Amino acid sequence: MVDVILGLQWGDEGKGKIVDFFAKDYDLIARFQGGPNAGHTLYVNDKKVVLHQIPSGVFHSGTINLIGNGVVLDPITLQRECGIVDSFGIDLKKNLFIAERTHLILPTHRALDKAAELSKGNQKIGSTLKGIGPTYMDKTGRNGLRVGDLLDKNFTTSYIKLRLKHQRLLDNFNFQEDITAWEEEFFEALEFLKQLNIVNGEYFINKHIKDGKRVLAEGAQGSMLDIDFGTFPYVTSSSTISAGVCNGLGVAPQQIRDVIGVTKAYCTRVGGGPFPTELENETGEELRKIGNEFGATTGRPRRCGWIDLVALNFACMINGVTKIVMTKADVLDSFKDLQVCTSYDINGKDSREIPFQMERQKPKPVYKTFNGWNIDTSQEKSYTNLPDSMKTYVNFINNYLGIRINFISNGPGREQIIEVA
Ligand code: GDP
Ligand code: IMO
Ligand code: MG
Repeated sequence: MVDVILGLQWGDEGKGKIVDFFAKDYDLIARFQGGPNAGHTLYVNDKKVVLHQIPSGVFHSGTINLIGNGVVLDPITLQRECGIVDSFGIDLKKNLFIAERTHLILPTHRALDKAAELSKGNQKIGSTLKGIGPTYMDKTGRNGLRVGDLLDKNFTTSYIKLRLKHQRLLDNFNFQEDITAWEEEFFEALEFLKQLNIVNGEYFINKHIKDGKRVLAEGAQGSMLDIDFGTFPYVTSSSTISAGVCNGLGVAPQQIRDVIGVTKAYCTRVGGGPFPTELENETGEELRKIGNEFGATTGRPRRCGWIDLVALNFACMINGVTKIVMTKADVLDSFKDLQVCTSYDINGKDSREIPFQMERQKPKPVYKTFNGWNIDTSQEKSYTNLPDSMKTYVNFINNYLGIRINFISNGPGREQIIEVA
């Protein structure tokens, strides 16, 4: 059986911490989409680590980790990250596996990402510029190079051919960048990558499932950044939802058991695009400051706002969420009042649905106000001791979504998480 942990908002919900927390109950943790645009933060022996490519189960010596075929892989980032993980005494030879069908991010993909963003002017996506979009374009355009191709003697010829194609595109954009240094690093990193465990991911994972091993699929980004169901075009280029597990790993749908959705107790977004509950005021600033809302990959300040139940309900629907983890509840500790968006006002009409084009339809959030709790909850260990007003807030969300919040995370640390009784 496969359980899934994924983000229900616009990313950065705290998936890394939650995967790390649950990892001890699983044998295999697998990333199924996205690439180094992800930044998953966890604390190991009180030391902060941000993972971009490697699954967040890697610090549990009893688990093995798979980078699935649905991921796009930057060898340079991977090599750097392996160095960090290695410094914690983790034996990557034993516990990291990479699917041979995983597509490679080339230096020219990163250059193309920059060129495409620049050409969009004030309609830019706010991409992390890690080459994600162009690499997935080469996958669907049937041009890309995959990890398994590295073992082919013609790899360099294929690389040069593809780079030439990219060069023509870059010329069209009238974009110039010297990629010589990147290329050098890239080829060095490929040699490193070749030494790792490259496997046929779909047989690998299905054998584990057949042998009764417990598998956890780790999502990156969030449901509202999904290529199909997110706030297009302000999205990423992969299937971030539970359906992405099937084609990102080669797992059949009936193998999926729990879909554990992670949401913040409020909401953030980094990059461009619509965000109905955004607070461009002091309250938003306060959330950013207390929540330390700065991107784990790019360091950009995250846009902050209240929790949006219309969007959450939509995310639960398309993912088939069975359990919810609410993170960063402690960030709300000092707020006098809290607002929860329960519907959208779209041109005077009340709606509980995500419109086709949020950008154009400009939904205005309709709020219900809740009392804050004004107590430091970050050291609490049991649900019973949590303040009544937090329980009221949680219960309202449970009833609205018809799905229970099963865990409340009350700090970034590994132990700061409470099971809801
Ligand atoms: P991810 O991309 O979903 O893994 O999330 P990020 O790591 O990008 O961002 C989440 C941030 O919130 C990180 O800095 C975490 O250390 C931090 N964090 C996670 N859970 C909690 C929590 O319950 N409370 C607080 N205060 N911080 C948290
Ligand atoms: P994790 O896994 C938050 C956003 C970018 C941009 C858009 C497209 O840490 O939650 P891309 O680089 O994919 O072309 O960017 O998506 N974005 C994220 N925002 N968390 C992430 O990952 C993100 N990955 C991409 O800011 O708006
Ligand atoms: Mg992140």
